[in-house]
Amino acid sequence: MALINENYLKLKAGYLFPEIGRRVKAYSDAHPGQRIIRLGIGDVTLPLPKSIVNAMKSAADDMGTSSGFHGYGPEQGYDFLVNKIVENDFQARGIQISADEVFVSDGSKCDSGNIQEIFAIDSKIAVTDPVYPVYVDTNVMAGRTGEAGSDGRYQNIIYMPCTAENNFQPELPKERPDIIYLCYPNNPTGMVASKEKLTEWVTYAKKNQSIIFFDAAYEAFIQDESVPRSIYEIPGAREVAIEFRSFSKTAGFTGIRCAYIVIPKELKGKTTQGEEVSFHSLWNRRHTTKFNGVSYVTQKAAEACYLPEGKKEIQESIAYYMKNASLIKKGLDEAGYKTYGGTNAPYIWLKTPEGKTSWEFFDFLLREAQIVGTPGSGFGPSGEGYFRLSAFGKREDVEEAILRIKKLS
Ligand code: MLT
Repeated sequence: MALINENYLKLKAGYLFPEIGRRVKAYSDAHPGQRIIRLGIGDVTLPLPKSIVNAMKSAADDMGTSSGFHGYGPEQGYDFLVNKIVENDFQARGIQISADEVFVSDGSKCDSGNIQEIFAIDSKIAVTDPVYPVYVDTNVMAGRTGEAGSDGRYQNIIYMPCTAENNFQPELPKERPDIIYLCYPNNPTGMVASKEKLTEWVTYAKKNQSIIFFDAAYEAFIQDESVPRSIYEIPGAREVAIEFRSFSKTAGFTGIRCAYIVIPKELKGKTTQGEEVSFHSLWNRRHTTKFNGVSYVTQKAAEACYLPEGKKEIQESIAYYMKNASLIKKGLDEAGYKTYGGTNAPYIWLKTPEGKTSWEFFDFLLREAQIVGTPGSGFGPSGEGYFRLSAFGKREDVEEAILRIKKLS
């Protein structure tokens, strides 16, 4: 019999969102006819902007002609999209990124899960706690960790607790990590990192020769102009950081799949012999070996996000979700909950009432108000006693959810 990768056996239970789905299904099967409001997984609900749909239709028409047909494209993405990314997401903010430093992909979940492959297996990783589970689980699968302890923490990972006590801002680790995972605006806490905070991280990474993985999947939701949208707004970040961006939440692409990763050419690692190697060239090798590029139709849809009409429609969707966020936050505050986030991010993080654990509160909310959220402990041990609500629901559901929560209290 073939041997399995035993690292998979170290993983705790199932992946968070399918586990929530399983519990919700069990509840709804047992209570048919009850209207369940889903504010759990951060999945968009608004239809795609018209200009994006039109771009997809016209790209599909291209594909039906001999002059417009596209087979395999460049694995790194078509120039028509990459150039728009560079101009709009970086140059417009005074950031210098060259087109060949961008790799278009089918999602930030895959990118942030796959990137660890180009690092040594004994690399030490540091994660905030709570954290997007993909960062931890993919390192467990790769064999970079030991077993999970009774406190829910894996051996050989540096956890940086983020709780109300430190205003959800992790302390710089005392032990040196090779890789630091940061996500801002943060999933799940909805908090942001100021320019000063990110500068501290870049300085720390330079001093310790660590690499920062900066997940900026939610940058489009930043309302406060002083908050950086890209880590490359911080001087020196090109030498220490890889950035992840996604069209999923920004433009409603969760079902279409398109994202990108930026790896500056300055970013170097070394072999055990001390020879310097660029991560850019390693990722290029990996990407071209394991990936055949995002479809032409999808990349045309992504390109439409940067055209004037697309930008306008995307802004309207973001404003809609951020209005949801403010309604949820206000409603919860009025109902006596302690809330965080939700002003520069589509997630509201709340303290569970009466000392309930995160899963107890999940069950309570589902049973008493038929509302689905995400238990904070699913994002890591320091998320215990917290709960996340997503602002990506439909307005009528958000309003109804607030009414139900207010009735509970
Ligand atoms: C979330 O709810 O945390 C996200 O939707 C998960 C994801 O983007 O993969």
